[in-house]
Amino acid sequence: DVMRELLGLKDLETKLMEKLHIEGVIVVAGDSDLSPWVKKEMGRACVTCMKERLTNGDIVAVTGGTTLAAVAEMMTPDPKQNRILFVPARGGLGEDVKNQANTICAKMAEKALGNYRLLHVPDHLSREAYESLIEEPTVKEVLELIKSCRMVVHGIGDAITMAERRKTSKEDMEKIKERHAVAEAFGYYFNEAGEVVHKVKTVGIQLEDLPRVEHVIAVAGGSSKAKAIQAYMKRAPHSILITDEGAARALLGE
Ligand code: G3H
Repeated sequence: DVMRELLGLKDLETKLMEKLHIEGVIVVAGDSDLSPWVKKEMGRACVTCMKERLTNGDIVAVTGGTTLAAVAEMMTPDPKQNRILFVPARGGLGEDVKNQANTICAKMAEKALGNYRLLHVPDHLSREAYESLIEEPTVKEVLELIKSCRMVVHGIGDAITMAERRKTSKEDMEKIKERHAVAEAFGYYFNEAGEVVHKVKTVGIQLEDLPRVEHVIAVAGGSSKAKAIQAYMKRAPHSILITDEGAARALLGE
């Protein structure tokens, strides 16, 4: 619309699509590093983007993080869509409860008046306990639902920020730094070239599964995430990126 045109947002979107070689970009005004309400605006834009693509009975897998929490907060029901099922994209990554995919998945489903299934696999299990737990029929069933999702909505983080926020072991922390990780998504850590340099071992969606997912929506903003977004997008050409002006201008060197 006219307002977005005047603010130069459309122009930023076109330039970013060319620079990152991705399918779609939506830029909201502001910088979420400076103003917290910008994260909610990204959340609102993400909800619109999701609704445009969802059809009855779809399965949506969501990750954790504060940005996805904003998406959940901004979710509203859509009278045209029913039987949408929300599931967490992957198991535990060491986050606090409020940032976990399970928490966000349940909240998003409630706001959408949809359904949800959760993944009850604790973070730190012995190998034997882990292997037997993922064979449990209820866990297996949820894992199958996750693998058959039609949409994934996920955040992208700065590697060091994410590793510090999660309960990352000293060895893994060193590995992440030594290998110059700059981006994090789904518990995978990427260097500037977009190569995976570390991965948190957990169940659910793996990076290799993404090409099969019809709609992949990444939500990440703030000028501090520019490097992370650029690195991660080298791995995910069929993504739609929802970001903010802060990240977009930093990415374009404006
Ligand atoms: O999974 C977490 C994301 O990679 C980034 O988290 O939205 O809190 O910055 P955030």
